[in-house]
Amino acid sequence: MMRLELHPLIVAAAGGELPEWAQVRPARMPHLASVANLLARWATELGLDEHDHTRWAAAGWLHDSLRDAAAGTLAADARDYPEPVRHAPAAAERLRAEGVADGELLDAIRYHPLGNRGLGPLGRYLYLADYLEPTRPFAPAENAALRARLPHRPEPALKRVCALRIAETLRRGMPLRYETVAFWNELQEGE
Ligand SMILES: [Fe+2]
Ligand SMILES: [Fe+2]
Repeated sequence: MMRLELHPLIVAAAGGELPEWAQVRPARMPHLASVANLLARWATELGLDEHDHTRWAAAGWLHDSLRDAAAGTLAADARDYPEPVRHAPAAAERLRAEGVADGELLDAIRYHPLGNRGLGPLGRYLYLADYLEPTRPFAPAENAALRARLPHRPEPALKRVCALRIAETLRRGMPLRYETVAFWNELQEGE
C-alpha cells in the first residue's frame, strides 16, 4: 500500500499538540489524552510501525478536536448529523481542508460516535478506545474487562460497544443513523 507522508498537523497531534482551531474544554482534555494513550498502546501491541503508531495517536487526540465548537461554526456537511455527533464529521472536514489526505484516519474521526460499514482498523479501534478509555465514568468494571482482552480479536468488544451505543440511542428516544445500523450488520456478518 502506498504510504502518504504524514501531514505536519498529524505529527504535532500525535505529540499532544492540537491545531489552533481546536475547540476543547480543559475538562475534556484527559479524555483526548486517554483515547490517544490507549490507541498508542494498542498500536504497539499489534506490532504496527512508527508511521501507523503516529497516525493512531493523532486520531486519538484529534477525534474530539471540535467537540466544544459552536454549532454555527461547523462545516455545512456536518449539520446533517444529530447535534451530539456533529463534531465528528466537522473535525474530519476541517482536517481535510487543512490538507490531511489520509482517508482511513479521516473516516475514523468522521464516524467515531456512529461506526460505519467498511471502517478500517484505525476506525474500529478509535470506536473502541473512545468508549472504553479508562477515564470514562460509566461501567468501569465491564469496560476494564473489555480493555483487558484487547487489542487482539476485537470483534466481541466491537459488538458489545455497538450494542451498548444502540441501546443508549433507543433509551434516549433518538433516531438511529443508517451508518450505525450498517456497522452493526457488518459486525454480525463477521469478517
Ligand atoms: Fe466524539
Ligand atoms: Fe471522544
